[in-house]
Amino acid sequence: MGDQIKLSAGNADFEYPVLKGSVGPDVIDIRKLYAQTGKFTFDPGFTSTASCESALTYIDGDEGVLLHRGYPIGQLAEHSSFMEVSYLLLNGELPSKSELEKFELTISRHTMLHEQLATFYRGFRRDAHPMAIMCGVVGALSAFYHDSTDISDPEHRKISSHRLIAKMPTIAAMAFKYAVGQPFMYPDNKLSYTGNFLRMTFGVPAEEYEVVPAVEKAMDRIFILHADHEQNASTSTVRLAGSSGANPFACIAAGIACLWGPAHGGANEAALNMLREIGTPDKIPHYIERAKDKNDPFRLMGFGHRVYKNYDPRAAVMQKTVREVFDALKVDDPLFETALRLEEIALNDPYFVEKKLFPNVDFYSGIILSAIGFPTTMFTVLFALARTVGWVAQWNEMISDPGQKIGRPRQLYTGPTQRDYVPLDRR
Ligand code: CMC
Repeated sequence: MGDQIKLSAGNADFEYPVLKGSVGPDVIDIRKLYAQTGKFTFDPGFTSTASCESALTYIDGDEGVLLHRGYPIGQLAEHSSFMEVSYLLLNGELPSKSELEKFELTISRHTMLHEQLATFYRGFRRDAHPMAIMCGVVGALSAFYHDSTDISDPEHRKISSHRLIAKMPTIAAMAFKYAVGQPFMYPDNKLSYTGNFLRMTFGVPAEEYEVVPAVEKAMDRIFILHADHEQNASTSTVRLAGSSGANPFACIAAGIACLWGPAHGGANEAALNMLREIGTPDKIPHYIERAKDKNDPFRLMGFGHRVYKNYDPRAAVMQKTVREVFDALKVDDPLFETALRLEEIALNDPYFVEKKLFPNVDFYSGIILSAIGFPTTMFTVLFALARTVGWVAQWNEMISDPGQKIGRPRQLYTGPTQRDYVPLDRR
């Protein structure tokens, strides 16, 4: 028998098995706790709770490690492509050359959207936030692709996963085009996944669009860095929505809604807005003081992470990518200097040192995306596009698990106890 943890409640002792993963902290299996003790555990924000078993992504927040199916994020960002990482996340192994070609071809065959969806966009205001459009359009996909929503059929799950990964760049580019008032661009499957997305976003029918290889590479790397991140808020949302048997398009729309928040995917937009507000390095001390002031809600956006208590490995790759994009586009942005200086000052300040607050993936991504030409409102959309592969991989993993149950947390009730209804004229 493996390790057990003993819990004393009243006069009785209970033993709970300790489960071991391949790496990382052990977990205490408390599934029988309520039945045996009549008590729940209390863990708001799930800071000490493993909500599921997963073989996809591993994070060691203290060491700054991020692995997808065992492969370090730095190696994947350096040597692979987003399509390769997508295959890896979905299938568990890196593809052979022919497997990758087949996968890319399959994805490219699903890049077009049902033509009726174009009219769907026209129901939104032109100034709608593109994340609002993403929530609506992705949620609506189930109405257009109902032939792949039988979640008990592995073939349906595969097709809907491919559809989601393939259509997300088209949907995101159309959200951009709608805001700027330019015609929607159809996909061009001669291009790579990422090249195609850049053309659909920045190309216009009147002119030939040339994909700049360095920008394509940087964008692809940004997608890799955002592909999956274990049981974060939006992924847990997708799993929770999916646990009721909801169709995959609805589940991913739920993930997009969760990602939108400024503490999660919305942080890249907030980080660049913050850097713009700070402006020049001489203003940094004022903002550092504000971030430290308990009475001021201001936080350094792009700093801190629930899991990383050491440098976010994705931030290091991002910082390097800023220079590559600046060189390729022959641009410079004084905000990069401000960001580097802010990082240096914060990392030497006892407040940030003691709380282990380091730059996260979003601290530098906004600078790159802005140099490429994206407005801040599109930043979280790009995160959603990339994270879709993680969401569908996690969703598939959950649905394929025969022991899967509907997610149903309990609570510590602190409201009034039972009382009698008082008629309106006596209140
Ligand atoms: N600036 C100033 N103080 C901070 C910050 C920050 N960015 N982040 C955390 N703290 C302080 C916080 O005030 C608290 O102090 P105290 O213990 O004195 O009350 C302490 O650090 C712990 O913070 P917490 O909010 O309890 O930690 P958390 O693990 O719940 O939150 C976080 C993690 C990412 C929500 C938070 O660090 C944050 O709000 N950061 C800014 C938003 C951001 O950049 N989010 C992107 C995360 S990475 C991309 C993604 O995964 O979506």
